[in-house]
Amino acid sequence: MVPAPIRTLTTVDEARALVREARQAGRRVALVPTMGALHAGHAALVRTALEEADLVIASIFVNPMQFGPHEDLDRYPRTPDADLAALADLGVTAAFMPTVDEMYPDGGRSATLVTAGHLGTVLEGRSRPGHFDGVLTVVTKLLSIVTPDVAVFGEKDGQQLFLVRRMVRDLDLPVRVIGVPTVREPDGLALSSRNRLLQAGERDDALALSRALRAAGKAADRGVEAMLAAAQAVFQDETGVRLDYLAVVDPRTFLGASDDHHGPVQVLVAARVGTVRLIDNAVFTIP
Ligand code: PAF
Repeated sequence: MVPAPIRTLTTVDEARALVREARQAGRRVALVPTMGALHAGHAALVRTALEEADLVIASIFVNPMQFGPHEDLDRYPRTPDADLAALADLGVTAAFMPTVDEMYPDGGRSATLVTAGHLGTVLEGRSRPGHFDGVLTVVTKLLSIVTPDVAVFGEKDGQQLFLVRRMVRDLDLPVRVIGVPTVREPDGLALSSRNRLLQAGERDDALALSRALRAAGKAADRGVEAMLAAAQAVFQDETGVRLDYLAVVDPRTFLGASDDHHGPVQVLVAARVGTVRLIDNAVFTIP
């Protein structure tokens, strides 16, 4: 079947006009925020959005505010033509693809920030200072532009999803946030736009992250410390992988889980494979 043409919106006004029309027609709107370089994980977000709404808008915007000065903003993969074709195939009505100037007309940055607070400075936020303030600021802007009924995010960015949910609750934003499970390759590798930056041979090294999560899961009946030790052991023989952090948190608070914790725990891992920084996480239950 020939996919319906997708509308490309580049300005805030165009996006608002499309949403206004949809609302007048009584249609429900979903937003899928992305930074492009789309893969099957994004397709899963879109499919969820299509189940929830009549009009799905996917945003594609590599947000400079969430990259630190020495991070991979310049080499972050950009594949706009393939992204548009994939979104059209999936049945997305419109792609919102603003320029940096359109989003941040005052010199490429927003002077006003939505700050993630203490939980934005731990784990991913500790390694990437300011990252979550940049994420929450752009997500707030996207929610304000599109005013969706639902917004769909991947569970792979576990801390991001937690902080977006908390922001929506803290600021009483009128949107329902839906998290979609991580899509993995058959061998366990979590799909990520950054996987395309891996050099030959590094892909196998990258499996250390999902192997560490599985090892932690197998140790769950022995408690938090055993989970951490099992996951850590995976990295001991991995010369091509530099572990950044490994943590076991209570998914309700995102604070470190103590060794006497029972119930669900979320294991989070970040590591550098060659020059590519990857993250992954999974939830297990300590009986
Ligand atoms: O998860 C991402 O791709 C980005 O952090 C997001 C949510 C699109 C904000 O730029």
